[in-house]
Amino acid sequence: MIDMDRIPESIAVIMDGNGRWAKKRFLPRVAGHNAGMLAMKEIIKTASTIGVKHLTVYAFSTENWKRTEEEVSGIFKLLVKYVDSELDELHKNNVRVRILGDYSIIPKAAKNSIEKSLATTAENTGLQFNIALNYGSRAEIVRAVNRINEDIRGGKLEADTEVTEELLSRYLYTGDENGNIPDPDLIIRTSGEERLSNFLLWQSAYSEFAFTDVLWPDFTPEEFKRLIEVYQNRDRRFGGRK
Ligand code: IPE
Ligand code: IPE
Ligand code: MG
Repeated sequence: MIDMDRIPESIAVIMDGNGRWAKKRFLPRVAGHNAGMLAMKEIIKTASTIGVKHLTVYAFSTENWKRTEEEVSGIFKLLVKYVDSELDELHKNNVRVRILGDYSIIPKAAKNSIEKSLATTAENTGLQFNIALNYGSRAEIVRAVNRINEDIRGGKLEADTEVTEELLSRYLYTGDENGNIPDPDLIIRTSGEERLSNFLLWQSAYSEFAFTDVLWPDFTPEEFKRLIEVYQNRDRRFGGRK
């Protein structure tokens, strides 16, 4: 049983295994992504119900452009379909949508859907649902450094500004522009892979990791809660002593 008094405030999920799920069923990869969307819907509901404050999902990485045009366009079409069918429900549940990553260059229809979901949910105060879209952590850190540099040159920051961890954090996608999302307490990755794949490199400094062999489309609220329980049995020391 999970301890409802110690629900992690910030959870990040690397939703992996859609392609393998489809392959096992002799289906096209896009069918796996569709099934993955359905799994995601359930996890948002569960996170919201148990009182998670921030749920951050890795939806599309800066490296995922390497995939076929068919798969990439299929993923963005599904995103449009997802927003069209779910935005009302998300809004009704007081969920606030945020985006991490440069979504200016994604296909037009997907960009419009994203902008609509950001505007519609902007005032919501419940679960913050952060979608990492065209996100890569190295690109994020480089962008932060360049933005600090620009603000120094433009006079928004003092010329002799000392760059600190706190300042750099504020210039990341998880920083000021998205209301300063707390570092993930727990990072989940499905499908048996045990790597970050360029996700939240800076923010994961003291995150707990939980891996499961379950493929993302098969991931259930029960498995989600099981991993939270695993997290609750960890001993977080942050370099200190008990
Ligand atoms: C994760 O599933 C979704 C995205 C990366 C968009 P994959 O598509 O990576 O599935 P596998 O790893 O090939 O099974
Ligand atoms: C990470 O999964 C990206 C997302 C889940 C969106 P990938 O499937 O792209 O990662 P690798 O290639 O296995 O490292
Ligand atoms: Mg994968």
